Amino acid sequence: MKPTADERLIVALDVPTAAEAARWARRLRPVVTHFKIGLELFTGGGPAVFKKMPGGVFLDLKFFDIPNTMVGALNAAAALNPFLVNVHALAGPAALERCARAVKAQKPRPRLLAVTILTSFTGPELKKIGINIPMGKMVSRLCGIALEAGCDGVVASPLEASRLRKEYGKNFLIVTPGVRPAWSARNDQQRIATPAEAINNGADYIVVGRPILAAPKPLDAARMVIEEIRLARRGKK
Ligand code: C5P
Repeated sequence: MKPTADERLIVALDVPTAAEAARWARRLRPVVTHFKIGLELFTGGGPAVFKKMPGGVFLDLKFFDIPNTMVGALNAAAALNPFLVNVHALAGPAALERCARAVKAQKPRPRLLAVTILTSFTGPELKKIGINIPMGKMVSRLCGIALEAGCDGVVASPLEASRLRKEYGKNFLIVTPGVRPAWSARNDQQRIATPAEAINNGADYIVVGRPILAAPKPLDAARMVIEEIRLARRGKK
């Protein structure tokens, strides 16, 4: 079943404690169904933070290690019952294959996403670390490797989503952070787009953090993002 507009928004709860996350979840719950637990919250609040979440959780810990350690971490993550988990595609084909096999053996199982290139990265930075192919090509290469390894989808910037859809088709998930509504600040994100652009480019889910949590009226901000998703989806049909 296709997710509804509100299910396509995942709010990043980038706060340091379980208590703060629970407060946000309670506050946003009337309109938000999916939340993201990332490094800050999981490190500060621990697995107990799951118990405070009213909806589905994207556990965004971006595992990147030797295959054996990644598999162990994914098995532990699956026991918490998130609907999405992720690893870095740069961990390589062998690690990704083992991760995909491990996740698919879990019941119920989360969907496994591979992070391509972080949305805070720029082209010159990519060059500086020795990756000399253009950003779009690199993201596409990593997406191909991830899908071939059996991952369910990728995390990519909204700017690269349309290229990935063109090259790899419809049957995989694209989750895009780096989403900035026209009315919000860019912060440290570089490769950004609006919610409507992200959806039009082929994103299934969009991750939004600061534009909602730092808004003067967070609930209204979430509503506005969902409405933008709804209108963009309607235009696609
Ligand atoms: O506040 P903001 O909307 O920038 O939050 C984006 C969230 O998505 C953060 O939690 C960040 O860790 C996460 N993320 C990202 N880029 C990726 C993968 C995850 O920004 N490639």
